[in-house]
Amino acid sequence: MPRERSAAFAPGRVNLIGEHTDYNAGLALPFAITEGVTVRARANGTQRVQAHARQLGERDEFPLADPPPATGWRAFVRGVVAELERAGFPLAGARLEIDGGVPTGMGLSSSAALEVSLCLALVQLGAAGPPGGEPADVDRKLIARLCSRVENEWVGAHTGLLDQLASLYGAVDTAQLIDFRTLALEPVALRLGDWRLVVLDSGERHRHASSGYNERRTECARACELLGIDSLREADAHALVRLPQPLRARAEHVLAENLRVLDAVAALSAGDLPALGALLNASHASLRDLYEISTPAVEAAVARLREAGASGARMVGGGFGGSVLGLFAPGTRPPADARGVRPGAGAHVLRA
Ligand code: GLA
Repeated sequence: MPRERSAAFAPGRVNLIGEHTDYNAGLALPFAITEGVTVRARANGTQRVQAHARQLGERDEFPLADPPPATGWRAFVRGVVAELERAGFPLAGARLEIDGGVPTGMGLSSSAALEVSLCLALVQLGAAGPPGGEPADVDRKLIARLCSRVENEWVGAHTGLLDQLASLYGAVDTAQLIDFRTLALEPVALRLGDWRLVVLDSGERHRHASSGYNERRTECARACELLGIDSLREADAHALVRLPQPLRARAEHVLAENLRVLDAVAALSAGDLPALGALLNASHASLRDLYEISTPAVEAAVARLREAGASGARMVGGGFGGSVLGLFAPGTRPPADARGVRPGAGAHVLRA
């Protein structure tokens, strides 16, 4: 018997450093933020799903079996149902209430928060067990891959696993060092004392399916082909001269960014936050000049953070808009419209 009700929360994320490394089998250091999406599910005794996106005031309804494709937020909901079904999870027809606290298109992974919270709520609802019983056991890496298929196949964004793993494995006061070659995660304490991390909206919304994101991914794949390797993680820095531009610049970014992730872990464990700030600045310069994914609006946001005294500032997420992350030392004051972010709990089932 499926349960009558279930609920789950999944957070968005900020990637401290390690951008555009996930689909290159590289390294990244994200943390889950305290804002996220909550999904409440109630079995409706039918073979259909009725979904309500509260913030948008929009609804959707579709069959559990073989949902037809859709666009916008509906593509995520239908994709999650279809992929869970395909993976063999027992599902029940349900009414879904989706409540979101992560603004979309800001580079804070509102989409991962949506996919992951939907997955956990639906798996919990379909799993046999007493009402309010223990959360169903889920393989979180399998859920991350499944959500990534939703992005790739239902939304058309060829994103990697960064956002989903960050949302699924987040922990209070902790960032996760992720090695995308092995999918090993290692918690890294992110205690900032009186330092502050903030995000500033560039005002420019992005969509990975239509920005240059997919093109960057294709360029990295082409660079690998030319170098005769499976991923840029295996690339020898000296071999990059063999690549034509802009492929060489893209690969140079990825290799240097992996090293910056390790340097950031070292800076954090030494409590050297000025060094972390310098690494954020170097990451941004590389994303702007080598990866070429910045925009005038993003540059203006970076400049505002630096003028306000940030020790480091860089774009976060896929690029072409979204938010900029800033690190502020004690005694400095971020711009009034910047939002503080701190590492919060990962995705979890809630008492329904
Ligand atoms: C987006 C994608 C991630 C990752 C980042 C860039 O957030 O969803 O998979 O590639 O961009 O680091």
